[in-house]
Amino acid sequence: MWHNFRMPSKSRAEHEPLVVTKNLCRTYGRIRALQNLNLSLRRGEILGLLGPNGAGKTTAIHILLGLLAATSGEASVLGLSPFKERHQIAKRVNFSSAYVQLPSNLKVMENLTLYAKLYGVPNSPSKIQELLELFEITHLRNRITGSLSAGEKTRLGLIKCLLNDPLLLLLDEPTVSLDPEMADTVRKILKRIQRERNMGILYTSHNMPEVQEMCDRILFIHQGRTITEGLPGDILKAFESQTLEQVFIKIVRSGDLISP
Ligand SMILES: Nc1ncnc2c1ncn2[C@@H]1O[C@H](COP(=O)(O)OP(=O)(O)O)[C@@H](O)[C@H]1O
Ligand SMILES: [Mg+2]
Repeated sequence: MWHNFRMPSKSRAEHEPLVVTKNLCRTYGRIRALQNLNLSLRRGEILGLLGPNGAGKTTAIHILLGLLAATSGEASVLGLSPFKERHQIAKRVNFSSAYVQLPSNLKVMENLTLYAKLYGVPNSPSKIQELLELFEITHLRNRITGSLSAGEKTRLGLIKCLLNDPLLLLLDEPTVSLDPEMADTVRKILKRIQRERNMGILYTSHNMPEVQEMCDRILFIHQGRTITEGLPGDILKAFESQTLEQVFIKIVRSGDLISP
């Protein structure tokens, strides 16, 4: 009688669906970047979107951000259409990628103030200060953004994406340019904030131990198609592997063999 089961409203809000896609497809000319992607992400959950270079991860994130239209299929973010209702969604969603930088000619503080204003953050100076301290870059507040190291820019990007207290974070390879110690610090901060605020996070990374540490669930795509989805432990069992690294290699090598 599962279909009759009704969760109490508090618990329903705690686990409310943030992202749902149904048979989402995207082509670029003859390239099929996404083929029938069915993705779901709830509050309080970190979903690892995995796959080799060119698998379609960034394309999926750009569709969810409303930056790119789907070729077919449906996507809903916070119950709204990301492409048509982007501005409403933007209040409660944010995005960070090591590959997307903030305006490089502005100072760190100018950038954060600008974004805080764009997001309408109440009491923004104290919010900015709190996040600068959390990510340990308070001393860089008057530096020109373009002069920061890759790791410093990454941390700045993460601060920017937390300014509006998002319900949903889309993180595209957030730790890629960080040294192992800083990557560990950033993971711990993200995990803590995610738990405190019961956020949902869509997380892409090529660092498999990191995925194992961070993600509650995994969706693995290759050449735009879903290969496997589930709890990390179940995926390890299904692929008779000890680590996600082994699973990754198995999927990509066998996928290459069967793909046209
Ligand atoms: N603007 C674009 N024009 C043409 N092809 C693109 C474009 N963006 C991505 N692609 C192609 O779509 C596929 C998926 O790319 P992407 O979503 O960036 O993968 P990932 O983020 O998993 O590395 C790749 O084959 C890529 O070359
Ligand atoms: Mg990418």
